Amino acid sequence: MTAAINRSGPHLGEAPPRETLDEAERLSVEELRDLQLQRLRWTLRHAYENVPHYRRAFDAAGVRPEDCRDLADLARFPTTSKADLRDNYPFGMFAVPQADVRRIHASSGTTGRPTVVGYTANDLDIWATVVARSIRAAGGRPGDRLHNAYGYGLFTGGLGAHYGAERLGCTVIPVSGGMTPRQVQLITDFEPRVIMVTPSYMLTVIDEFEKQGLDPRTSSLEIGIFGAEPWTEQMRAEMEERAGIHAVDIYGLSEVIGPGVAQECVETKDGLHIWEDHFYPEVIDPDSGEVLPEGELGELVFTSLTKEAMPVIRYRTRDLTRLLPGTARPGMRRMEKVTGRSDDMIILRGVNLFPTQIEEIILRTPGLAPHFQLVLSTRGRLDHLTVQVEARPDSPADRRDAAAAEVVKAVKDTIGTSVEVVCLEPETLPRSAGKIQRLVDHRG
Ligand code: DLL
Repeated sequence: MTAAINRSGPHLGEAPPRETLDEAERLSVEELRDLQLQRLRWTLRHAYENVPHYRRAFDAAGVRPEDCRDLADLARFPTTSKADLRDNYPFGMFAVPQADVRRIHASSGTTGRPTVVGYTANDLDIWATVVARSIRAAGGRPGDRLHNAYGYGLFTGGLGAHYGAERLGCTVIPVSGGMTPRQVQLITDFEPRVIMVTPSYMLTVIDEFEKQGLDPRTSSLEIGIFGAEPWTEQMRAEMEERAGIHAVDIYGLSEVIGPGVAQECVETKDGLHIWEDHFYPEVIDPDSGEVLPEGELGELVFTSLTKEAMPVIRYRTRDLTRLLPGTARPGMRRMEKVTGRSDDMIILRGVNLFPTQIEEIILRTPGLAPHFQLVLSTRGRLDHLTVQVEARPDSPADRRDAAAAEVVKAVKDTIGTSVEVVCLEPETLPRSAGKIQRLVDHRG
C-alpha cells in the first residue's frame, strides 16, 4: 500500500462523508450555543452543589450558578488553576460519590503531587465518543487498523486513544510507547493505516525504520494523529515527507478529559476544531484575566459541559493559542496550533522565546536533524541558552559549523536574542517514548 499524498500541493486528505458525522458536528452556531448554555447551567449547579472548592470560590466571587443566564455571564465566574487541583489532592474535586467513579487518571507533572482526575461511566462514554470523532476527522475509518503508541497507564493518551478507536470501529493494536525496534516490526507486520503517538516519538520511529534499511514511505501507514506536546508546521512537513503520511494534530489535557478535546480535520489542516458540545473554550489575557475577542492570542481556558465526576469551571490550561471560526465543521470554533505553554516560555535577558520557535528554525536549516534540546545556564550574572542539535546522519561533517552559525543568526534575526548553538553527532541526545523534555534548566 502506498500513501496517497500529493507532494506538490497542500497535502490534504479526504473529508468523512457528511452522514457519518455526529449530530453535534452538524449543528449551526446558534443551535450549538443553545445546547452549550443549557449544559453550562447544569455544570455550574453540579459543581456548586457537590464540590466544596467551587462553592467557596463562587461565594467568594459573589456569584451563584443561577447568575449565568447567557454564555457571556461565564466570565463573571472564577477561574480554576492546577494549584486548586493540587490543593484538593487526591479526590477533593470529585462531584460524585466514589462508588460512581469508574476510572482515575493522573498526570505526573515535573514536581510535587500528580494531578488526579476521575470519570463516571457516562464520562468514559463521552470521552470515547469525542476521540472516535477525532480519529474520523483525522481521516480514520471503521475497519482501519490503528497502531496506538501513546503510553498506557495513568497517562490519558493510551487508554483515551484506545477506547476512542474501538468506538469508531477500528482494530486497535495497543503497543504503548517504547521498544522502538518492535514498533517498526509491528507496523511492518500488522500493516496499520493509522498511528497515534507523540510527534517526538514518531520521529524516533521514522529514524528506526531508516536505521533498519527500510523506507518508512513504503509502510502501510497513511495517517498520523500527533499530540500531547507542541509541534510545528515544519515538523508536519518533515513527518509527512519522510513517512508518506498525513500528519494531523490532536489536543487535550487530563483535567478537561484527556485527548479528544480538539482535533484537526485532515481535509483542511488548519488548526483544531474544538468539540464544543462538551468543552466550552475561552481565551483570556494571562495577566489581567480578561476574556479576549476571537482571533487574539492568549491563554486557553476550558469549562466542561457534560462531565459528571470532575466538572471543571474555567480551567486555565496555560496553553497559548487563539480561537478562530469553524471551517470543516462550520458550527465549531477552531483553536490555532498551540505555540507553547506559558510555563515553557523562556525569558532570556528580557526576550520571550518558545522551544517551538527554535524547532522551526532548526527544521529550516539544511543538515540539522529535528532532535534538539535547550540548556539554560548562568554565565556571570546573565542567563545563557545553548541549543544542542543533532546533525542529520547524511550531512557532511564540514556542514555542521555552518549550520550552527545559520541557527545563531536566524535566532538573532527573528527572535532578537543571542544563543549558542552546538551541533552534535547523530543519536547523541536523549529520546523519549512519550512527551519530550525540550528544556534543561541548569540555572542556580
Ligand atoms: O497530553 C492528553 C493527550 C494525549 C493529548 C494524547 C493528545 C494526545 P496531559 O498529560 O494532561 O494530557 O497534558 C496536557 O499537553 O495542556 C498541552 O500543554 C500539551 N498538549 C496536549 N496536546 C497538545 C497539542 C495529554 N496537540 C498538556 N499541541 C496540554 C500542543 C499539547 N500541546
